[in-house]
Amino acid sequence: MSDLYSKIISCGSYLPEKVLTNHDLAEIVDTSHDWIYERTGIVQRHIAAENESSVDMAYNASLKAMSLAELRPDDIDMIIVATATPERKFPSTAVLLQNSLKIEKAFAFDVNAACTGFVYALDVADKYIQTKIAKNILIVGTEKMSSLLDWKDRNTCVLFGDGAGAIILSESNKQGILSTSIGSNGAYKDLLTVNIDSEFIEMKGNDVFKIAVKTMGKLAMSTLQKNNIDIDEIDWLIPHQANSRIINAIAKKISLPREKIVLTVDRHGNTSAASIPLAFDDAYHNGSLREGDLIMLEAFGAGFTWGSALLKF
Ligand code: UT7
Repeated sequence: MSDLYSKIISCGSYLPEKVLTNHDLAEIVDTSHDWIYERTGIVQRHIAAENESSVDMAYNASLKAMSLAELRPDDIDMIIVATATPERKFPSTAVLLQNSLKIEKAFAFDVNAACTGFVYALDVADKYIQTKIAKNILIVGTEKMSSLLDWKDRNTCVLFGDGAGAIILSESNKQGILSTSIGSNGAYKDLLTVNIDSEFIEMKGNDVFKIAVKTMGKLAMSTLQKNNIDIDEIDWLIPHQANSRIINAIAKKISLPREKIVLTVDRHGNTSAASIPLAFDDAYHNGSLREGDLIMLEAFGAGFTWGSALLKF
């Protein structure tokens, strides 16, 4: 077996200053804190300033991850940004980030797999390390979901938030990423979408909910089987943070105690591709993640797309 691994060596995150609570939302649409909290587990979300873009948020998160890893711009040889809310149609958010960070020798590109984007990016990055094309990869999930929200539509505007999370994935001879798995099915394209001629998110929430629970439950089981490990061996599940009811239903399906789940949806809302790296950074900085911990990441999003990763911290 190869002793070359890719390993997460650092993380960083950024949340915009403005906090919008459920009570604040109840002032602008026909909703209530109780409805939002009971249906989603969300209490508040951060909202970017008008002149603050997904690139700006990615920049702030990336600086922190690079500083924690003690890496200089020249040490980064590849940048992948997962986003569905780019600052421009082109160039990519990754290229704009490269410029802000003054990283000269890297190549940079975006992936768009909606809420699964970060796991897709991790899957790709791992392969670039395994094939020795890159040694230090900056991976960022960044989203300005507020730019896609109709503040008159209570079905969607209460669910999402803005922010960015970054990690550095580096070549290592210690175990890191053990496996990744990604999938998609475009037959569900209309259940969660922003059409090209529309400004706003449209979602059939109920259908998304049911398919998300079913797909992520199955995916978690197949990830365990593929790696020949038992659920008891998992130290942490860091799932995409869309709805605490979805997360709890998955935990129940796979018999994982709730204490082993990293949960940030209460404070961040659904930040799409940023949600997993934001949750990862939160858990790292509050001391939950320890060296050697076995961690499962899991995401589900528009497409539908889905993905999981199993890793040693
Ligand atoms: O990131 C991955 C993508 N997104 C998701 O994973 C989201 C998946 N879906 C969900 O999280 C849930 O479906 C929601 C939280 C969006 C909705 O919860 P639900 O239990 O599925 O509610 P519902 O759509 O069945 O709506 C129930 C009622 C409706 O009223 P009627 O028709 O029963 O009279 C809605 O109009 O709740 C109403 N409603 C609201 N009421 C107060 C919808 N939004 C709101 C609101 N406040 N914000």
